Amino acid sequence: MKAIILVGGEGTRLRPLTLHCPKSTVPMLGHAFLEYQFAFLRKHGIRDIVLSICHQPKLLRAAFGTGRRFGIKLHYALESQPLGTAGAIRNAGKFIDRRETVVVLNGDILTDINLTRMATVHRGQRSVLTIGLTWVEDPSAYGLVQTSRAGRVSCFLEKPSPGEGQTHWINSGVYIFDSAVFDRIPEGKNYSSERQLFPELLSAGQRVWSFPGRDYWMDIGTPAKYLQAHLDILEDRMFMLPIGSTGKKNSRLYMGKRCRFHPTVEVSAPGVFGDDCVAAAEARIGEFAILGQRVKIGPHAVIQRSVIWDKVHIGEGAKLNGCVIGAACQIGRFATVRPGSVLGQGTIIPDYSVV
Ligand code: GDD
Ligand code: MG
Repeated sequence: MKAIILVGGEGTRLRPLTLHCPKSTVPMLGHAFLEYQFAFLRKHGIRDIVLSICHQPKLLRAAFGTGRRFGIKLHYALESQPLGTAGAIRNAGKFIDRRETVVVLNGDILTDINLTRMATVHRGQRSVLTIGLTWVEDPSAYGLVQTSRAGRVSCFLEKPSPGEGQTHWINSGVYIFDSAVFDRIPEGKNYSSERQLFPELLSAGQRVWSFPGRDYWMDIGTPAKYLQAHLDILEDRMFMLPIGSTGKKNSRLYMGKRCRFHPTVEVSAPGVFGDDCVAAAEARIGEFAILGQRVKIGPHAVIQRSVIWDKVHIGEGAKLNGCVIGAACQIGRFATVRPGSVLGQGTIIPDYSVV
């Protein structure tokens, strides 16, 4: 089987992080995010992958190349303007033989859903499309999927208004398609899977099946969810790739090469520190401090439950909690960065300020 990964969105909800870095390349514990999807597909025997891209194509090609480094083969299907989730699939379909069954993934989900079993259900039910479902407490930001008892999809409702829809089972963004369905999607036009293709398949009486699962699932498309995904991996709720690229593991602390921490630095697990990080006297790092490479931490600084990208400088006595800090930011002395803050690349926070 081949796979198509949709990575053509603008990543608006992850701004400012995605202004200089496509959503699929945001760092996650020593890897670019999409490497988790590659590992997921590899685990289920899929190595031939089409990336459906639109924005920042050069950055994407530079990050993933031919795919060889990740043990896969990548093809790129470029859109000159966004074609929507179904138009993108149609465009990527030029790499797919119409007799094939294809896995399609939204490019921003971290999951360990059992794709092999899902493929068995797809074949067993002779469906043209099987949609992986996941259960969420608040379904309002997702696509709701109603099914018969046996699992046949009866209704698809994208982003319901309050009071609409009566299920907590949502579209997880993992699909198996019979690629013959791609020919129903108009070519070169903006067309949505969720708002157009799926409802049309249902009203045409096509067999659309569901595959509900309780395995780990997260859409990392907002800063809060992106941060939460790190915490989940560090709490062993989900395992996919080794944590840290080169680091040494020591009781849930993953330390990169050449890190220099003053002997009085207090480190609490779990934590991940990239290569060449430096921390000065009496800094307190962790729990859940995730540092990129070459992060410099001043004396008495405190960092908790935060994701800090490469080359960030944190001044003396600064306090960071529950935040995401983009690359090359400078946090002034005794500044406070509060929960929910997200700083774009290169932001400078003056001394003593609170953000
Ligand atoms: N190539 C391409 N072209 N990709 C696109 C385009 C496009 O025009 N538009 C969106 N994408 C990609 C995004 O990059 C993302 O990986 C995926 O399609 C889904 O888009 P999102 O913008 O993240 O959608 P969402 O999170 O609001 O909702 C979708 O995902 C939910 C699960 O996370 C829907 O599929 C919902 O039904 C679903 O529940
Ligand atoms: Mg999304």
